[in-house]
Amino acid sequence: MALKFMTAEEAALLVHHDDNVGFGGFTPAGCPKVVPTAIARRAEEEHAKGNPFQIGMFTGASTGDSLDGALARAKAIKFRTPYQSNKDLRALLNGRETAYYDLHLSELAQNLRYGFLGKVNVAIVEASDVTEDGEIVPTCGVGIAPTICRMADLIIVELNKQHPKEIRGMHDLYEPADPPLRREIPIYKPSDRIGSACIKVDPAKIVVVNTDKPNEGSPFSPIDDVTMAIGRNVANFLVSEMKAGRLPKDFVPLQSGVGNVANAVLECMGANKEIPAFNVYTEVIQDAVITLMKQGRVKFASGCSLTVSNEVIDDIYSNLDFFKDKILLRPQEISNNPEVARRMGLVTINTALEADIFGNINSTHVSGTRMMNGIGGSGDFTRSAMLSIFTTPSTAKEGKISAFVPMVSHLDHSEHSVKIIITEYGVADLRGKSPIQRANAIIDNCVHPDYQPILREYLNMGVKGHTPQNLKCCFAFHEELAASGDMHNVDWSKYNK
Ligand code: COA
Repeated sequence: MALKFMTAEEAALLVHHDDNVGFGGFTPAGCPKVVPTAIARRAEEEHAKGNPFQIGMFTGASTGDSLDGALARAKAIKFRTPYQSNKDLRALLNGRETAYYDLHLSELAQNLRYGFLGKVNVAIVEASDVTEDGEIVPTCGVGIAPTICRMADLIIVELNKQHPKEIRGMHDLYEPADPPLRREIPIYKPSDRIGSACIKVDPAKIVVVNTDKPNEGSPFSPIDDVTMAIGRNVANFLVSEMKAGRLPKDFVPLQSGVGNVANAVLECMGANKEIPAFNVYTEVIQDAVITLMKQGRVKFASGCSLTVSNEVIDDIYSNLDFFKDKILLRPQEISNNPEVARRMGLVTINTALEADIFGNINSTHVSGTRMMNGIGGSGDFTRSAMLSIFTTPSTAKEGKISAFVPMVSHLDHSEHSVKIIITEYGVADLRGKSPIQRANAIIDNCVHPDYQPILREYLNMGVKGHTPQNLKCCFAFHEELAASGDMHNVDWSKYNK
């Protein structure tokens, strides 16, 4: 049957106030752009007429500014899940103008199928190809696209000419059956292909909007000394683990988080020739993975998106013959799947906002109250890893705040899941250690020298028990820190009255 084509504005009219809309893509990669912006304009017009217009939003993870940014500025978001990183949306969540539900990224698709989050009325996905018999080929990010396309009554496809049809074959799209029928996910190595190359739906549900809007990929900031030192410490630590026989000589697949630290870690691992060429099984494939692939240092990368700069995506598309059999893009339910992560024995590397001296990690809430981005995939990977590593610069806010505190102001990853913490100063290996031993390892190896004395003083305050926490001090300390923004002059005796 012939597909229905329309403009973004016409497609936006098919979305109604109170609808739940699922968006394909993951990070800005593969996210629709022109239809969300048209929905935002429509919301503004309705608001100007005094009519309500807000939608519930399911996304893969963060999105581009033409999606989260435009809809947030139009005050068009009633409900949003999961990870986000847009400053306008962040302001709405923290102002409680939008209800935000932060969950592990691997869980969203199955939560939708289980019916936990309500109906998916509309799916909006970016595609490199769509056929009259209902085959949709995603672009450079998958996210929850297969699930929302299957569940929605209406699928709006943004057919984007920036992405060649020839990328068909780079995706591996698979949805597990729901309990009690679920079987194992048969991925035993990152390159195992288990699903289909396209999403297959009833073509009667599809409307198509043509676009050639470029990706909203942003370049990385140049690597600074702190980031580089963290990267080197990670690479050297992994070499020492191999030498000690705790990591296999041919290595295990690597997961690395988002941002500049992750990029620096990968660069340092690539440069350290004692680490053999390795595979990546991760959520976002960043620029450094592609650089290392060209150098033969990364053999294969499985991820949910190519979250790369526009320069790098052009490079991949111009050299598909080289890249196509070295990259697989999967739904986040599979790229982040704890079962697969545990089976393959991943080394996982994620970034903390704040850690405590006993090994608990806060990845999400600044000062325990303000949402930064969300837990993303860090929980999916950390809990199931062979070796879970957290990295962080030892201080934040030009050194005024130590990244290490007595007790995290918000808990995302507990001491039971966190094996290694690495800063620019060194490595704290927490495996097999009691709380006091962990605290000493962290203070000695990771904490900035300015803050070692006060953290030692806290540890040696004389509190009895297995984990010597002084709750009164912790609460008063966090309150004062949130107010003053400076941790240099902590006086425990002042709090401990
Ligand atoms: N106290 C107060 N503020 C802090 C802080 C602390 N301990 N640590 C960082 N901050 C502030 C920074 O100053 C910065 O503020 P700004 O935006 O005003 O400049 C902000 O928090 C972000 O810090 P930054 O160092 O730039 O963070 P980042 O880009 O390295 O990201 C996370 C760190 C934790 C926010 C990010 O990795 C994340 O979202 N993680 C969760 C999801 C995840 O791990 N995904 C990967 C799975 S594949």
